[in-house]
Amino acid sequence: MKVAPSLLAADFAHLADDVARVAPECDLLHVDCMDGHYVPNLSIGPPVVASLRPNTDLFLDCHLMVDNPGVLLEAFAAAGADGCTVHVELGDPTPLLDEIRALGMRPGLTFEPATPFEAVEPYLDQIGLLLVMSVKTGFGGQAFIPEVLDKVRAARRVIDERGLSVEIEIDGGIKIDNAHLAGAAGVDILVSGTGVFGQADPAQAVREIREAAEAARQ
Ligand code: DX5
Ligand code: ZN
Repeated sequence: MKVAPSLLAADFAHLADDVARVAPECDLLHVDCMDGHYVPNLSIGPPVVASLRPNTDLFLDCHLMVDNPGVLLEAFAAAGADGCTVHVELGDPTPLLDEIRALGMRPGLTFEPATPFEAVEPYLDQIGLLLVMSVKTGFGGQAFIPEVLDKVRAARRVIDERGLSVEIEIDGGIKIDNAHLAGAAGVDILVSGTGVFGQADPAQAVREIREAAEAARQ
């Protein structure tokens, strides 16, 4: 069970300090890139990834909530991103997934809470990461939508049946008190923003989120 703190909830003026606080406990860093078009919010992008890169060896897991990810992929790769995840809502993701892989990054695919599992299922053999959104994208600090756990269970079943090496990540509203639900449903990676950086001791929060999810894992 892996935990990926979402930097969206970190202090952007002290990003390296916040990363250092969680680094000993976590497995990846989740980087939310928002363009003000795909979602009504603006966050960070390749320049911040480039600044982070010399400060950490952690996997930089970039979640692209942008209208046109194709124009940014080379910049993310050059900045040192390890993985880029794109939204299936934008249309056929195959060309983007191919480019992400060609650039040496791990291709990820994600889908909004309202989008059915069937929308991503045809692409499972093209990806290394399936990100199940458990809030509507755009903002941190929203409430977890438990109905998406049905999609996690469906993905777990299909990935295991087909023997695919795809990790299932969940993103949105994950906290210590609901991490067990994600663990029991078959998630591999838990993203948590305010559930980590909004806590008095972020490293302890990462530990407790992992422990809660692992205890529930079947
Ligand atoms: C939402 C982002 C999430 C967000 C999670 O659009 O993709 O990664 O930062 O934040 P919390 O854990 O606070 O819901
Ligand atoms: Zn995200």
